[in-house]
Amino acid sequence: MGFFSLMPSNSLTTTENNQQINAETQRARQRFGIIGNSPRLLSAISRAVTVAPIDLSVLVTGESGSGKEFFPKIIHFFGARKHKKYIAVNCGAIPEGTIDSELFGHEKGAFTGAVASRKGYFEEADGGTIFLDEVAELPLTTQARLLRVLETGEFLKVGSSTVQKTDIRIVAATNVDLLKAVEQGKFREDLYYRLSTILINVPPLRDRGDDILLLARKFAADFSEKYMTAPVTFSDEAKRALLIYPWPGNVRQLKNVVEQLALFEAGNNISRTMVMETLPSRSSNSSPNANPIPSQTHSYEGEREFLWQSIFSLKAELAQIKDMLSQQMPNREHPRSPLALLDNLSPEEESPRNSILPIATTSPKSPLSLEESEKETIAQALHLAHGNKKLAAENLNISLRTLYRKIRDLGIE
Ligand SMILES: Nc1ncnc2c1ncn2[C@@H]1O[C@H](COP(=O)(O)OP(=O)(O)OP(=O)(O)O)[C@@H](O)[C@H]1O
Ligand SMILES: [Mg+2]
Repeated sequence: MGFFSLMPSNSLTTTENNQQINAETQRARQRFGIIGNSPRLLSAISRAVTVAPIDLSVLVTGESGSGKEFFPKIIHFFGARKHKKYIAVNCGAIPEGTIDSELFGHEKGAFTGAVASRKGYFEEADGGTIFLDEVAELPLTTQARLLRVLETGEFLKVGSSTVQKTDIRIVAATNVDLLKAVEQGKFREDLYYRLSTILINVPPLRDRGDDILLLARKFAADFSEKYMTAPVTFSDEAKRALLIYPWPGNVRQLKNVVEQLALFEAGNNISRTMVMETLPSRSSNSSPNANPIPSQTHSYEGEREFLWQSIFSLKAELAQIKDMLSQQMPNREHPRSPLALLDNLSPEEESPRNSILPIATTSPKSPLSLEESEKETIAQALHLAHGNKKLAAENLNISLRTLYRKIRDLGIE
């Protein structure tokens, strides 16, 4: 195992190492409430605790909702920097125009509105760790600054010519294929290699076997305890259904499904039908009796078929939403989603926000306000994409950054 070579040269023998790593893995799981015993999950946690004391950059990869956010915390709090600052930055959520200033700070007068100088995260977190979440969303100019700070520890505040030093450990995460982004010229190759000195891959939930049931039990128990509802139990058939479903939204989706079951079926023994009714609905033209979960025993063929069916169903539902939207649009010159217009607007043009969706509020067909319609469309797209913001943004034909801004401005949960 390559990562054992990261242990200091005076370290323990391999067997002792294994025991120590297992104990530390256990400690990390307990500390952060990570549920699961599957070998690939344990191996990922083990890699994180092993690399924690060694100041290498780490890139955490894995599908949306798989639990990547635990890993930078393990690396920070199990390393020598644990008493220093830990700052998590969602690179997709910060507007492109201010990201350099957020990360590296700015001098007074550097741009309109810079009335005072400001420290950036790289100065604030000196000695500590910065978690760059959704790192693929960094603009190329910011990538160049980041590369410099990673290689030399040096950076310049926006509008300053004085080089500053900082001592930061970087942990980055992404749910996109960064090498593909490199091929497409969207991500610097040199930065990719600098960030990914150590790679940690968080496995998708569908590959974690019985962890699905452990998580389901935990989420159900947490829910009934928090809201004081009667606890639910899972029948064998329901368990099989949970085990065979491919969970495209991973743990985030499982939590959502189990919480719905815990609420609407409080006190019941959950049946297979209850599970199936809570899983995302299929396209309206499929038979109502169609079975979304192959009833044969676990088979990859069945899973693959079900996955494809889910994708087709998702596409059909999106097509319906697009149809609905285009019917509501009086201006048929814009073939793209009305939300896509946002990407081409300057901040001034975007306001007032209510002018974005040209739906008549007084129409008897559309009692929702413009803002409510927009909110509902985005919420629905997020729901259909199982909380995967990137996919939702693609389906809405807007940038991820715009989606984040809309979520924040419209107060979408
Ligand atoms: N093994 C686990 N045990 C308990 N809870 C988990 C586990 N994995 C994930 N979760 C929970 O699932 C949710 C989603 O996890 P997280 O936010 O880390 O996903 P992510 O990989 O960062 O997804 P994205 O790429 O969309 O940001 C969180 O509420 C997290 O606490
Ligand atoms: Mg995340």
